[in-house]
Amino acid sequence: MALRNILTVGEPALNKLCRPYTEFGPRLHELLDDMRETLIQADGVGLAAPQVGVLRRAVLVIETNHAEDEEDLFLELINPEIIASEGEQTGEEGCLSLPGECGIVTRPMVVTVRAQDRNGNPFEYTGEGLTARCFCHELDHLDGVLYPERAERMLTQEEMMEYADEIGEEA
Ligand code: NI
Repeated sequence: MALRNILTVGEPALNKLCRPYTEFGPRLHELLDDMRETLIQADGVGLAAPQVGVLRRAVLVIETNHAEDEEDLFLELINPEIIASEGEQTGEEGCLSLPGECGIVTRPMVVTVRAQDRNGNPFEYTGEGLTARCFCHELDHLDGVLYPERAERMLTQEEMMEYADEIGEEA
């Protein structure tokens, strides 16, 4: 495994439509392993392939809704699509590609995705709260959309400082 460089806003790769995977071989597996290491190192909760310069439809989301004695579950979503959503949540959202920024974004409270795993096997998964937010945020990355486009507003630097202690997670 190796760390990959996370691209930041201004890099053209972040605004591109990503292509689906048709082959589920070593190249994809290496990317996913690298993305996992990169995400852990960056202390984030989600990462999309275009953020490391790969214009393909793959994302990694950490499922943080679990009992305290359970380990975080890394969800690898290849060619994901949202097939159902319900409810609404409005809150702060950040992105590893926009360091030091934060916006207020409204997302569904519950989101079900259909995706393939690293071997091409289809599955469905329902996420709530932060996980649902993360699904929406990461899938947007695959269409070249960054969250400020969805944000009601961005936080000011002053507000950022106030929230600094609360915001420990960036996608
Ligand atoms: Ni992001």
